[in-house]
Amino acid sequence: MSPICHLDGQFLPLAEARVSPMDRGFLFGDGGYEVIPVYSRRPFRLDEHLARLDTTLAALELDNPHGREAWRGLVATLIERNAWDDQSIYLQVTRGTDTRRNHAFPEHVRPTVFMMSEALVTVPEAQRASGVGAITAADFRWLRCDLKTTALLANCLLRNAAVKSGCVEAILLRDGFLTEGSASNIFIVRDGVVMTPPKSHLMLPGITYDVVLEVAASQGQPHEVREILEEELRTADEIWMTSSTKEVLPITRLDDRPVGDGRPGPVARRMHQWYQEFKAKVMRGG
Ligand code: PDD
Repeated sequence: MSPICHLDGQFLPLAEARVSPMDRGFLFGDGGYEVIPVYSRRPFRLDEHLARLDTTLAALELDNPHGREAWRGLVATLIERNAWDDQSIYLQVTRGTDTRRNHAFPEHVRPTVFMMSEALVTVPEAQRASGVGAITAADFRWLRCDLKTTALLANCLLRNAAVKSGCVEAILLRDGFLTEGSASNIFIVRDGVVMTPPKSHLMLPGITYDVVLEVAASQGQPHEVREILEEELRTADEIWMTSSTKEVLPITRLDDRPVGDGRPGPVARRMHQWYQEFKAKVMRGG
């Protein structure tokens, strides 16, 4: 059975959804998006995702077609209409369909809203136990990496380079400093201290990044938010990638060399445990 999606006010089978080729999302990647994990039919950190969508759309000068309550309702219906208990909700807003191709924004177009659900694919136990490989790459993206836009070709090229090398992620370096992964934020551990770069225009302010820092603070885990040099990344005891779908995943090989002793480190294991406890508490409404 085809999953149910939402397109411009209608819920319908994904296989039947149609968008015009004149949609600026198709022509220019002109839109914003979010990916929201759903556990036991409850969206995790939904308000934070919707707030980040507001920020993205405001920066793109694109009016958000729905208020917070309407979005919550649409997400709830989409979850209900699909079969899985654990889902990954994708939502995007593009500027809409024009009558001609023109870089400058048209005045009277209605944004296109598209949402779909997929079964949440969690990290396989074996992969979590061994950790995953990453490559490093030059961060050649634009200077608004803080916006979650659908124009992701640079991220796709970088992630694909990682996959071609048998790795899961590309860790990006700009001017000698760590920025983030092609589709994740990056944390390192040195001498028991968890470190990650500060939010800036050079990286996406990750929802999982915030959760990890909150959890570290509440558990008394030493942590520092500061610029990280390439050399500090390469000599870290542990490296993790974080995202809504991967949660906290240890990277145990970097550019074909072991990270630390080549196995997931103790701080990663603790953080994974704390993260699961935090999720369980939030899902219970605690
Ligand atoms: N990507 N940085 C980038 C470039 C990302 O694309 C993502 C997430 C993150 C992590 O953000 P969060 O913790 O809010 O998921 C960081 C999503 C999952 C995607 O594009 O599929």
